[in-house]
Amino acid sequence: MIGVFDSGVGGLSVLASLRRALPRADLLYYADTARLPFGSRSPALIRRFAREAGEKFRLFGVDFLQVACGTVSAVGLDEIAAAAHCPVSGVILPVVERIASDGKRRVLILSTEATANSRAYETALAEKIPGVATLSLGCPLFVSLVECGFCAKNDPALLSLVGRTLLPGQTFFPDSVLLGCTHFRRLSPLIAQLFPGVPLYDCGEAAASALTASAEGQAERGEGKLRVLVSDGPERFRRTAERVAGLFGVTVEEVPQDE
Ligand code: DGL
Repeated sequence: MIGVFDSGVGGLSVLASLRRALPRADLLYYADTARLPFGSRSPALIRRFAREAGEKFRLFGVDFLQVACGTVSAVGLDEIAAAAHCPVSGVILPVVERIASDGKRRVLILSTEATANSRAYETALAEKIPGVATLSLGCPLFVSLVECGFCAKNDPALLSLVGRTLLPGQTFFPDSVLLGCTHFRRLSPLIAQLFPGVPLYDCGEAAASALTASAEGQAERGEGKLRVLVSDGPERFRRTAERVAGLFGVTVEEVPQDE
């Protein structure tokens, strides 16, 4: 069984890509909605959340864990991996490798504040693309906008808010925009309007492609089961998942918390 982790609905795009590419794989999605948003927390707290999420996945009995959260990939990947006791992948390397193989050299990185502060994407980009120019913008409102269902591409108020956050990115004149938080894919039609002709690279999409390329054998063993679990508010999550990610007809279970 493949586990997929995020703080909220951001990782559902990764789940959907895995479902399409590996229809027989058993998938378990767990969102730590009780602690969302992770990206405005301190590194120490994110590492604690990561460790506790890893312990949950160990109890769920997953064979492989895809961390579909940029923030945990940047700040707490070692902690979640140590606690999960199974092979774990994050979302940073696959998207960086894709940008490098496309020959990009001026990368605007959009992420949560915690991810921006960690400089994890810059470090990985600099290793793969010598001389790369990067500008990293923490976008503290974006996760909350998506979780509240605000992502319509023709909403002028939303476009103006997103535009205001991304203004420093426009004067950077990037040749590529890295969506370094899995929630941001839902805002990509708006972000694309602000950077006409510039390709957007979604960390979740790149990670799902990398995983499906390496997980074909695993897929043959499953029965195509899907479980969706959250740490709080299953009904709210179900509604948001329908509205934002088009995930219909799925039962969302609540995982009992220790405290
Ligand atoms: N989807 C998570 C990420 O990729 C959002 C983190 C948060 O909860 O702030 O970073």
